[in-house]
Amino acid sequence: MEEIQPGIFSQNDNLYTKNQVPGEKVYGESLQEIDGVEYRAWHANRSKVAAAVKNGIDLDLSQSDDVLYLGAASGTTVSHFSDILEEGFVFAVEYSETVGRDLVKVADSRENIAPIIADARKPEDYEDLVPEVDVVFQDISQRDQPEIFNKNAEKFLKENGVGLIAIKAQSISSSRDPEEVFEEAREKLKESFDVLDEVRLEPYEKDHLFLKMRKK
Ligand SMILES: C[S@@+](CC[C@H](N)C(=O)[O-])C[C@H]1O[C@@H](n2cnc3c(N)ncnc32)[C@H](O)[C@@H]1O
Repeated sequence: MEEIQPGIFSQNDNLYTKNQVPGEKVYGESLQEIDGVEYRAWHANRSKVAAAVKNGIDLDLSQSDDVLYLGAASGTTVSHFSDILEEGFVFAVEYSETVGRDLVKVADSRENIAPIIADARKPEDYEDLVPEVDVVFQDISQRDQPEIFNKNAEKFLKENGVGLIAIKAQSISSSRDPEEVFEEAREKLKESFDVLDEVRLEPYEKDHLFLKMRKK
């Protein structure tokens, strides 16, 4: 097992994180014990962050970072952030109460996840729960995803903090050329960020762009 980024491991071309709750699976992923340490498989076709890492993005995470995660769903990727951030914390925002129930269960057995059932378009609704953070990550399939991201980063992301976003072209427009959609999204994000790196997420996700940015 080789540590390729802080808290992210690789073996035989597969990604893993160290399980913070040994013996417990979150979504049916496989567990593997090596030298008394349990690792959880982190599949690139189940997580856009894993896909971005596989395609060469250095997330620039420190294991003591606090992360605001927008679009947490049932907590699949959130649980891997929880593994990685051994001394940090994940503030996980999801607006669907249905999938949010599973997110709350994942948070119950981990000490560094705060589940927040709220609309990411209204950051004022959770401003009392979220402090200034080191990283904002967003995986929300919405037409206005760049605007939602800028709004949250403005309120919660520290100066020079890192912004990570997975953009799905089809959610913004199903008829336009994905490259055109990505360029428009990039321009909106550049109002608040400098783009540091980017990758497409094929073959794991079709017509998705992952950007790593620094807040201006
Ligand atoms: C693609 S899924 C996220 C998958 C998740 N990031 C993972 O890897 O495990 C997008 C999620 O964003 C949520 N979502 C969409 N719009 C939202 C909004 N305005 N505020 C909060 N969550 C939203 C959806 O309910 C959905 O669960």
